[in-house]
Amino acid sequence: MNIILLGPPGAGKGTQAQRLQTDLGMIQLSTGDMLRAAVKSGSALGQQAKGIMEAGKLVPDELMVSLIEDRIAQPDCAKGFILDGFPRTEAQAVALDKMLAKTGKKLDEVIEMEVDEKALTERIVGRFTCAKCGTGYHDKFKRPKVDGVCDVCGSKEFTRRKDDNAETMKTRMAAYRAQTEPLLPYYRAKGVLKKVDGMAAMDEVYRQIRAVLARA
Ligand code: AP5
Repeated sequence: MNIILLGPPGAGKGTQAQRLQTDLGMIQLSTGDMLRAAVKSGSALGQQAKGIMEAGKLVPDELMVSLIEDRIAQPDCAKGFILDGFPRTEAQAVALDKMLAKTGKKLDEVIEMEVDEKALTERIVGRFTCAKCGTGYHDKFKRPKVDGVCDVCGSKEFTRRKDDNAETMKTRMAAYRAQTEPLLPYYRAKGVLKKVDGMAAMDEVYRQIRAVLARA
């Protein structure tokens, strides 16, 4: 099964995609994570993306489309994938349709994570991630079981994203509203859009997503 998790910054896309990957073996394709890896490696893509991401703006469509086109062609994606952070513009959505048609794949569900905008900044500024395995945490909503130690890999190193601050969040939200939100009617018209309550507790959001997938 191939799905998209769609929602604003901090909606919980990455949190839920990680859990679906663990439980169902679907592959999480987070364009944000791919770009952060490119920035860390100092690749040409990373050098182009770094300043754009730190400013909270969107990386150009052609870079994002070729990144995803290469990734979904990898053999592990045959098991099914979860797009987390892509598409983010109508041009990316149209390009995704074309690449899926070309490879004989199909989009099963687009799941909108509906959230109250006021909650997002609190989620974003409290977020931190294990530097070794990438597991996501939150100062208030998801602390490691043992303070300072990753539940999954035991690492004691954590990182916080440079774009996770209240100021950059304003630009990220503006980009979401102007460029990504119009994808909701795009997918509704195709009959694949489903909605879950992203304001619920993480386990309940997960339950709702699994219920959508069970009906697909
Ligand atoms: P990206 O990394 O995709 O960031 P984003 O869309 O802004 O989404 P986030 O990762 O911030 O949020 P999330 O929804 O995954 O939330 P999470 O689960 O972590 O993109 C970063 C940048 O890369 C972009 O700004 C852009 O520059 C570039 N980029 C990426 N893709 C692109 C594309 N396709 N085109 C162009 N540019 C692109 O949850 C957030 C926090 O809340 C966590 O701490 C979590 O523990 C907590 N939380 C989660 N769920 C709940 C809940 N139900 N209740 C309470 N707390 C919760």
